[in-house]
Amino acid sequence: METYTSEMTEKVEELDNLTWQGIQSLLDHYAIVEDGDHIIIAYTPDCRNAAAWVALACEERGFQTRMLFMMPLRDKGFHDRLQTEINLSKKIAKRIMLFMFENETMSHNVVVKKIFASFDSNAYKVIRGINTGKNLFKYGLSEHPDDLSALNATILERCKTATQLRIKTENGTDLKVQLNNSKFKYMSNRGVGRPGKFIVIPSGEVATFPETINGTLVADFAINVNMILREDVRLEYNPVTVEIKNGKMVSYSCQDEKICAFLDKCFSIENTDFVGELGFGTNRGVLFAVRENSHLNERVPGVHLGFGQHNQTPEAAGYDCDIHIDLCAIGGKIWFDDQTEPLDLSQVPYSTIPHSELVNCQDVFSDDAEDDCCGLLRD
Ligand SMILES: [Fe+2]
Repeated sequence: METYTSEMTEKVEELDNLTWQGIQSLLDHYAIVEDGDHIIIAYTPDCRNAAAWVALACEERGFQTRMLFMMPLRDKGFHDRLQTEINLSKKIAKRIMLFMFENETMSHNVVVKKIFASFDSNAYKVIRGINTGKNLFKYGLSEHPDDLSALNATILERCKTATQLRIKTENGTDLKVQLNNSKFKYMSNRGVGRPGKFIVIPSGEVATFPETINGTLVADFAINVNMILREDVRLEYNPVTVEIKNGKMVSYSCQDEKICAFLDKCFSIENTDFVGELGFGTNRGVLFAVRENSHLNERVPGVHLGFGQHNQTPEAAGYDCDIHIDLCAIGGKIWFDDQTEPLDLSQVPYSTIPHSELVNCQDVFSDDAEDDCCGLLRD
């Protein structure tokens, strides 16, 4: 019999209590698993541990669970492998629950949509995890989607009746924003499923496109970018300061040479100087910035600007770009039009009005995006 060596055990991450709790939250509050669900877990090589933990939790509850390997971005055989699993499952399942766990990508959207196109929208549910791993489970899923919905609803209600915003943070962010709510749509990522739509985790964000934006952003929390970035993305000790004029970055600075070099590379790409996203994180489970390039960091309660890729149609935004550079600040306050009382982003009250069903519940990297959602296939 084979025995475990220290070399082998180093590759096996320990499953701790907080991670396990996050997985239970995933099943109870996000997937809302029910008797009769048949669960398929598709995962990329870098998410093997995460997939195994979720499978363990599913099997412990008595669910039939199938594992499906996939390669990120390009995997010619994935369609047929998934189709085979779906065909097997649909004969016995009341509902198919498909989890897709990836780390740096969100792949095969078109394949999944095509396969489920003939399904009743209540006969399946797809939950896509990006940056899947311990931190996602521990911190990204500790908030209930109902609470994220109520926080997002408050921000949406305030923004959608406003024209001018003034946004300030303690560390020097000072932005003047003009909204155009009849032209630009809002995104609200809150972990709540809608028939036929994917749930993207981590959740907790409201975003739109600013008609005009001017001022200074001091990003003192983290960078999140849809490019491969292996550096430490935390900005607490090395904030990035960006000057913005008429919706475009005109200058940026940071004391960290590596971060500057990376931003130089990013901002040399065409149209990355446009502010493509005005985002507000609402996930109170994100207590500190994680070291790795992760969507968790832009879910922190606070303000972030996404440069380059936007969340609108190219016609509405007036340009196109497949690189998205989020620069995130923690906390901050928003003043709406001439109201004297600001909304404190670290203490947003829960709305008592249900979240609008008309707002897209997606990310910039949505289930409506093409396979090349992450810009990683660009030459
Ligand atoms: Fe965002």
